[in-house]
Amino acid sequence: MAIERTLALIKPDAYPQHKDAVLARIREAGFTVVQEKEVHLTREVTERFYEEHRGRSFYEDLTVWISSKPIYALVLEKEDAVKEWRNLLGPTNSEKARAEAPETIRALFGTDGSKNAGHGSDSVASAEREILIIFG
Ligand code: PPS
Repeated sequence: MAIERTLALIKPDAYPQHKDAVLARIREAGFTVVQEKEVHLTREVTERFYEEHRGRSFYEDLTVWISSKPIYALVLEKEDAVKEWRNLLGPTNSEKARAEAPETIRALFGTDGSKNAGHGSDSVASAEREILIIFG
């Protein structure tokens, strides 16, 4: 299995109050934190970040929300990091996560179907693009 890097975001419903708990789970799962920082994204950067979802019903609300407050960004490294981090996050909808995967980050710290505590890149190529946007 290849060593990969992925981008993790702790979103406004979980940051800052659950940052330490999320970081503990990241370390317990064996990820190396390569870079980390608090960041307050502008609306413009957030729209570029979520470009592939432009036009979807939730795009406006999502980009307004993510750019409304500081969030916490991390570059995580591990074998199979992209899939492993998304597994640790759990299902996209936090309510579904609570029903189906109660130990996941979204189950524990997410709010609902729109506000879901965390983001994870969906491929190695997306991770490279997203890391460049957030960390330069
Ligand atoms: S898809 O079809 O697989 O690309 O969709 P998915 O990965 O489930 O979601 C893509 C991102 O959009 C967010 N999302 C939402 N945000 C707000 N409201 C609603 N209803 C909604 N549905 C999906 C979802 O959390 C994903 O964002 P990230 O930041 O990657 O988690």
